[in-house]
Amino acid sequence: MEMTTISVFGLGRVGLSTAVCFANKGYRVIGIDTNENVVEQIRKRRPPFFEPQLDEYLKAAIDRETFLATCDPSLSQESDLILIAVGTATRDGKTDLSGVENAAATIGRSLSQTEHRQVIVIKSTVPPGTARKVVKPTVEREFNRTADKQFGLCSNPEFLREGNALHEVEFPDRIIIGSDDPEAAETLERFYREFHGGKLPPIIRTTHENAELIKYANNAFLATKVSFINCVANVAERFPFTDVKTVAAGIGVDARIGSEFLNAGLGWGGSCLPKDLDAMIEFSRASGYNPQLLEAVAEINRKQWQKATQAARDALGELAGKRVAILGFSFKPQTDDFRGAASIPIINDLLSEGADVVLYDPASMDNARKVFQDRVSYARSAYDCVEGAECCIVVTEWDEFRTIPPSAFVERMAQPIVIDGRRIYEPDEFMHAGVRLWAIGLGPRNE
Ligand code: UGA
Repeated sequence: MEMTTISVFGLGRVGLSTAVCFANKGYRVIGIDTNENVVEQIRKRRPPFFEPQLDEYLKAAIDRETFLATCDPSLSQESDLILIAVGTATRDGKTDLSGVENAAATIGRSLSQTEHRQVIVIKSTVPPGTARKVVKPTVEREFNRTADKQFGLCSNPEFLREGNALHEVEFPDRIIIGSDDPEAAETLERFYREFHGGKLPPIIRTTHENAELIKYANNAFLATKVSFINCVANVAERFPFTDVKTVAAGIGVDARIGSEFLNAGLGWGGSCLPKDLDAMIEFSRASGYNPQLLEAVAEINRKQWQKATQAARDALGELAGKRVAILGFSFKPQTDDFRGAASIPIINDLLSEGADVVLYDPASMDNARKVFQDRVSYARSAYDCVEGAECCIVVTEWDEFRTIPPSAFVERMAQPIVIDGRRIYEPDEFMHAGVRLWAIGLGPRNE
């Protein structure tokens, strides 16, 4: 196959992870970002955010000279595939498409004037209709030619999870290609066939709009699954001898339900599920449909974190002056990302009642310092964090928290009250060891 050059507009988590994986397979990849600091850092082989193995992949790609980061969009000119992977934030649920529009305009201005047909691929998450009504006309306006002749357009949403992004670029569950241009769709499919070789996942070819909606429906379903099990957890807590973990295991074996995304906790966060659910609620309403189910999913999540501080209040009474240890700041393990993290409202709530908060996270301490400055104290390790505390709340299920034995809480804390917001501890083991454990979705142990 002659195709060798791929440009990626936007070097955030999706763009950079995708770029380095393609570059390490030998494709020539040009990564373009408007942020000079980001480009500078990447050129120095330093990923601008934490993602497992990204540093190794980035170094390898730069060393084999298959990856170049730049602010200069004209370098994308001779590319075969041009990926748009810029962020799409939401404001009051409405998706801000300015980044996608800017990228489309820049691409339009830099498209090759030769007869070489280029395929623009939208990876950014955008509401149904965006490829057809925003991206295509923007590129055409700036390029001054129509799509069918000179460039093709595909919608190709990504499903990468933070903390597992590189693996998921290499081994995705499926590839969605939306387009009304069979030649462009064929070009993109051919590329993926070559990239994945013998490990080709199912490929679904469809319209732009289906591809766009699939991405939102996917994230909305994941959020629904988690809010559902959190709802079951809230019910379970009211019935003696129940445990949501066992209930989740019991329903998860039903092939129609599946066992993933059934871990009850303090709610779903991150940059994607909250943003995409809000956007889907917004564009559903704007279309005249009232998405009641999605609203309930969001509402359950808005309240879920409050269970941690309520449990602390129930255990300690007054929180003023009480030392509360928080284990975990990031929205989930294996990332330093704290966007939408339950830790933030929990800590704010504790501080508003005068608690003395001490925090530890294995990857996100610098971010935590930026958010809370000197309003909380920062521990050097999980063990250091619980020292002298009257209550400990597990907010993120990092592996290094899972291995803390109950004796460490009993010996180090002023009183061993542990609120397990992510169900990482074995209740019977902890209770027998003398820990006063409160855990999400765990019913009373007696009648
Ligand atoms: C999510 C999707 O999983 C990806 O498929 C998608 O590509 C990505 O958004 C995106 O749109 O870019 P991510 O934001 O990395 O990925 O996070 P998830 O792993 O989905 O976790 C989301 C939240 O749900 C986390 O706060 C996590 O703690 C919570 N969660 C997840 C639970 O509380 N319980 C579970 O069983 C699973």
